[in-house]
Amino acid sequence: MIKEKFDLTGKVAIITGASKGIGEAMARGLAEFGATVVVSSRKQEAVDAVAAQFREEGLSALGIACHVGNAEQRAALVQQVSDQYGKIDILINNAGTNPYFGPIHKMPEAAYQKTMDVNLNSAIHLSNLVYPIMKAQGGGSIIHISSIEGLHPSKMMMAYNLSKTALIMLGNNQSIEWGKDNIRVNVICPGYVKTKLSASLLANEEASKSLQENCALARAATPDEMAGLAVFLASDASSYMTGSTIVNDGGLLHAPLF
Ligand SMILES: NC(=O)c1ccc[n+]([C@@H]2O[C@H](COP(=O)([O-])OP(=O)(O)OC[C@H]3O[C@@H](n4cnc5c(N)ncnc54)[C@H](OP(=O)(O)O)[C@@H]3O)[C@@H](O)[C@H]2O)c1
Repeated sequence: MIKEKFDLTGKVAIITGASKGIGEAMARGLAEFGATVVVSSRKQEAVDAVAAQFREEGLSALGIACHVGNAEQRAALVQQVSDQYGKIDILINNAGTNPYFGPIHKMPEAAYQKTMDVNLNSAIHLSNLVYPIMKAQGGGSIIHISSIEGLHPSKMMMAYNLSKTALIMLGNNQSIEWGKDNIRVNVICPGYVKTKLSASLLANEEASKSLQENCALARAATPDEMAGLAVFLASDASSYMTGSTIVNDGGLLHAPLF
């Protein structure tokens, strides 16, 4: 049955940046479809609280803190999950940041480095850590959370745009190298989603007006509107999909020129 292909029972998933926002919603979605989800972010109390809430709802979850920019913490996260469950079927590289909003020529080098380390480099390194595990077990699904900001230029967010564009090419390259190992790699590009990260932007009157005028659905998304796509890409329902970049933006990228 095709319906059964969405079932994630017995699968183990790591979701970074899952203490709130899009990551939390995707973790919940995967867990509701039967996966055991490892909820990860920098703060242990935060991930413990989300995992405890999930377990109260009858879902299978564990919280493990990991600053994705820290090599030791990345290695410890993958080691702990592998030791505890003996497998890793799904990795969602979702943690993201945008520490600098301003012109390119004034961007502090440290802000650039942090953006690249958290948004892009962590996805390369975490993928490389799970690769041998997924290969040995016969396959897996890796999902990178990019953004429509990786598909078009925007003012004042150069490093963020660059990191999100590079994530798309990372997924493309990984899909080519790892397809033979039955490891699928796909990329999701959300539009504007109501979370802490986007709060100040969405509170801006000009940005809010532009969203109303240019987004076909004339609104920002809620985090749970990103979860179904993650479930699909994580599951066997998407077993022939790899190297894909999927936009989930309410029609914002297709804003008409006139
Ligand atoms: N919101 C949007 O409109 C939008 C649009 C397109 C793409 N995205 C992308 O979607 C992803 C999730 O964003 P969001 O809007 O859901 O953000 P959010 O609500 O601010 O949540 C960010 C999550 O990442 C964690 N985090 C931050 N830095 C981290 C680090 N160095 N290591 C590990 N975890 C870290 C945070 O928890 P702790 O503080 O506990 O670490 C939190 O769980 C990001 O990659 C973002 O670029 C968002």
